[in-house]
Amino acid sequence: MWEHLPLFPARASTMAGHVDALYFALVAIAAFFTFLVSALILFFAIRYRKGRNPHATQIHGSTALELLWTGIPLAIVMMIFVWSSVIFFMQTRPPKGAMEVYLVGKQWMWKFQHTEGQREINALHVPAGRDVRMIMTSQDVIHSFYVPAFRIKADVLPGRYTTTWFHATTPGHYHLFCAEYCGTQHSGMIGEIVVMDPTEYDKWAASGVDGSLASAGEKSFQHYGCTMCHRADNAGRGPNLTGAFGHTVLLDDGRTVTADESYIRESILNPGAKIVSGFKNIMPTFEGQLSEEEVIGLVAYIKALGNGTANLPLPVSEPNSGAYPVAPKQEGSAAKSDKTTTTPEKGGAAQPAAKP
Ligand code: CUA
Repeated sequence: MWEHLPLFPARASTMAGHVDALYFALVAIAAFFTFLVSALILFFAIRYRKGRNPHATQIHGSTALELLWTGIPLAIVMMIFVWSSVIFFMQTRPPKGAMEVYLVGKQWMWKFQHTEGQREINALHVPAGRDVRMIMTSQDVIHSFYVPAFRIKADVLPGRYTTTWFHATTPGHYHLFCAEYCGTQHSGMIGEIVVMDPTEYDKWAASGVDGSLASAGEKSFQHYGCTMCHRADNAGRGPNLTGAFGHTVLLDDGRTVTADESYIRESILNPGAKIVSGFKNIMPTFEGQLSEEEVIGLVAYIKALGNGTANLPLPVSEPNSGAYPVAPKQEGSAAKSDKTTTTPEKGGAAQPAAKP
């Protein structure tokens, strides 16, 4: 019935029904008590008016009443608490096996990267009927990824990854808004979610790309000389990254961490933060040298090394002893990628190349 009410957004994800049910229950409870209190005020004003009750009756407490008006509200708010917590946990725990889309927010646009290799600006194509996990970061200020038709909203923060997920149910075009004030053009930071038939999506995702996100990451991995130390034969000065993703890592101070996207990101930009047990703190930081897109590519590549869909290339040339390979600074690489929509990387899958 609400689909035809123009004030209410479409329901296009599996989460929408749950959120709406809670929302309407809250409205119903609030409406019920508004009417109850208003009606009682009216009733008491007439029933106990001065003309009828010239002398007030004093009441000195009623345990039964106290219990009643404490117990009933407690039961109602606990029900709301449990109900909303269930929805919160559903929303914050993406299902296993969800497809992944990376998002970089910036003043004032949304940049999407599909693992298949497609890139988009202010538009996101997704298949209906599949779980989609968003891995999001910002290259400047705080933004918020808000899709009313999916009933999801999640902050997009600089310096870390946040995630959310959805399962779109109905093909169509849906609004994407930024829901966090982020500067003068905040209201213009909008986009479109295009939900497609799954077979059409597969065709779309495969068209015009000649390299996956992981293969772009592999190129960066070689370009920045990571292969010199992160070697498949365990002879490198850095840990072998094959199969590392998603597993528990023992650190040199005895702590353990799970090798997730955030850990990989931190290890690239702030390598000294968490040193893997048995290794030295010798990796230079790549902070300021990589765009968020390049970091995402590297994360996708290391993830592919983790699930066996990519391999670590053996370096062709050995590094000079003592001379640590330092990446050349790339000016304007981030600015370039802002303008590209669906830019295929030239050259396809990278071959192991000799690095100086
Ligand atoms: Cu981005 Cu508001």
